[in-house]
Amino acid sequence: MKKIFSGIQPSGTLTIGNYLGAIQQFVQLQEDHECYFCIVDEHAITVPQDRLALRKNIRSLAALYIASGIDPNKATLFIQSEVPAHAELGWMLQSISYMGELERMTQFKDKAKGKEAIPSALFTYPALMAADILLYQTNIVPVGEDQKQHLELTRTLAERFNKRFNDIFTIPEVRIPKVGARIMSLQDPTKKMSKSDTNQKGFISMLDTPKQIEKKIKSAITDSEGIVKFDKENKPGVSNLLTIHSIFSNESIEDLELRYADEGYGQFKQGVANAVLQVIEPIQEKYNALLDSEELDDILDAGQQKAEALANKTLKKAKKAMGLGRVRK
Ligand code: AQP
Repeated sequence: MKKIFSGIQPSGTLTIGNYLGAIQQFVQLQEDHECYFCIVDEHAITVPQDRLALRKNIRSLAALYIASGIDPNKATLFIQSEVPAHAELGWMLQSISYMGELERMTQFKDKAKGKEAIPSALFTYPALMAADILLYQTNIVPVGEDQKQHLELTRTLAERFNKRFNDIFTIPEVRIPKVGARIMSLQDPTKKMSKSDTNQKGFISMLDTPKQIEKKIKSAITDSEGIVKFDKENKPGVSNLLTIHSIFSNESIEDLELRYADEGYGQFKQGVANAVLQVIEPIQEKYNALLDSEELDDILDAGQQKAEALANKTLKKAKKAMGLGRVRK
């Protein structure tokens, strides 16, 4: 069975972008793959985090994974910092990463822009991400469009390591969904929707109330044309809303264009909100039941044990290949 690894940062509450670009694929893939899904808290600290908020977000993300359909009997769910092999292999991979490669990463450039003090971990983040993936001998990494460049670097580092030391790592492939790979901000449809956006109106969180969701969609930036038509270039706002509606209601964009042909943006936006709510409300119910449960801790404990066993196996081989530690006489 092919192995899958993917992670999400607990850097805020999951948005519908993360849900459509990542989690929805995970739910399908768990049916016929060996899946490892990770809460990558060590990635979250590459930008400053409030200690208590981070801890809350980690648990909340775990509950959201399960409420959204990740089945702990089919997939392994765990927290990155509870498996120390990630940080260890991350360091080892930094030693074979080049400054020039890391400097080219657009996520680094975006997140570092305008900052006076840039944490060095923000710069070396891709080496840790490569470690996350390579520890599990991953075949496929399902992610949104924004992670494609990091995945390419992961492949480069794995190939470099295998060539320089020993053939230890499986070379992973990226899998990007055909639709929903890049959900855009509701306030600036040329920018991707992000959970850490300072403008709360730009994203829909999976835990927003129905009222908040309706309000955010109603105030989403569109255009003055009043025609519901998919045209990414000229109508990015309407196209983004059409994509969201289409995936949440499982209807084609063409069908939706027909349905709203004689309606204004008001009716259309109400339709988008209804489609989102229909999926999100049952997820929120499950989430609320799970959040403070012992069941959630049991799932994460079991996930940690399973992930650690596999990760340590790969780490041991990689250390040996690099010449780290000693061989007993
Ligand atoms: N707007 C998006 N549309 C589709 N997919 C998206 N993903 C993120 N934003 C969108 C996918 O969600 C997964 C988890 O992402 P992450 O938490 O590791 O970090 P990110 O890509 O940086 O996501 P955010 O929401 O933008 O987080 P912050 O604000 O902390 O940087 C990935 O598979 C990603 O592709």
